[in-house]
Amino acid sequence: MDHHITEMRKVFEDLFGSAKNARLFFSPGRVNLIGEHTDYNGGHVFPCALEIGTYALVEKREDEELHFYSLNESKAGTVVTDLSHADHYDPKLGWVNYVMGMIHVFEKKGFHVRSGWNMVVYGNIPVASGLSSSASLEILIGYILKTLFGFEVTGTDLALFGQADENEYIGLNCGIMDQFVIANGKKDHALFLNTATLEYTTVPFVLRGQTLVIMNTNKPRGLKDSKYNERRAECEEALRILQTKLNIATLGDLTDEEFDQNAELIENPVVRKRAKHAVYENTRTMKAVEVLQKNDIAAFGKLMDASHDSLRYDYEVTGPELDALVDAARSVKGTIGSRMTGAGFGGCAIALVEDAYLEEFKDTVRKEYLEKIGYEPSFYEAVVGDGPKEIKE
Ligand code: GLA
Repeated sequence: MDHHITEMRKVFEDLFGSAKNARLFFSPGRVNLIGEHTDYNGGHVFPCALEIGTYALVEKREDEELHFYSLNESKAGTVVTDLSHADHYDPKLGWVNYVMGMIHVFEKKGFHVRSGWNMVVYGNIPVASGLSSSASLEILIGYILKTLFGFEVTGTDLALFGQADENEYIGLNCGIMDQFVIANGKKDHALFLNTATLEYTTVPFVLRGQTLVIMNTNKPRGLKDSKYNERRAECEEALRILQTKLNIATLGDLTDEEFDQNAELIENPVVRKRAKHAVYENTRTMKAVEVLQKNDIAAFGKLMDASHDSLRYDYEVTGPELDALVDAARSVKGTIGSRMTGAGFGGCAIALVEDAYLEEFKDTVRKEYLEKIGYEPSFYEAVVGDGPKEIKE
């Protein structure tokens, strides 16, 4: 067991007397293989849950108080609030707002949270890395609420509640991808999700002879202050214009050809290329699943490359750090494909790399990135894991 779990128990005992009746829960982070910025456009995504994630040790209280301590935010000390506080966002509560938002959404959906709790949290997803540390926390809390209070909710409900937390409470208009794959993750599988219908299939994702490397730009970023909401608004504008002629519900309803035939309706070239990305990326994602199922890793890699280029030139969410990583990754012979993952604007990129070239890959990318950007990136080898669970020791 990770020594952090032992530390969580110790902190729990120190703060709350005993950890004897405390229960341990886990929720993963995620990495998206392909299908970026398609999830709020009714398109497809193809992410997987990771073995890194967020842990909570929790015990219900008799009263309505909520006591929190995070090993990652030890400077904040114990944060104390209560259930009635969940009716509004409070900047003073910092990361605890994600928790309060979940309580708020559950209450709104008719699930009454009857008592408070004591909780110690620890996460090993690098924060602000684009590997969904916030969605991991949201789904963790949703899963704990479901388990502790016996609420009958499905994985899809949890995902929708987590998204509502972000959209309505935190103020980020994110799509459904992160919360959905975290709530429904499956070891050694990626999830092929149609975000228009929330229908999905799980597709085996087991590499033999290659590794999926996650490369962190280590550039600090906050999505709420990024252009994320602006990109979403641009896509909505494009959709409104196209709907004056076409009978479509989302950009995901269009094939590349249909888009090309009607693109001129969108006069603003910037808005036009945003929409082009959304449509083409959706097509690429469907193709990527097809080629992966045929074990055509080379074709999968090409689609990853095309995805990054589209995010770089048409969607413009990459920035110098992500481009530096991807350019460096592509300069190594053993790289099959490379792209940014998640929202962009910093965060992480991924690369599919032949195992024989792994060390050379890391050396080259580290060196080139350091030269261009001035500080080092970090590398993790992706291990695909399950959704949320209670860990019984
Ligand atoms: C963030 C959002 C997701 C999705 C991606 C981009 O991770 O939370 O909903 O839009 O960006 O694909």
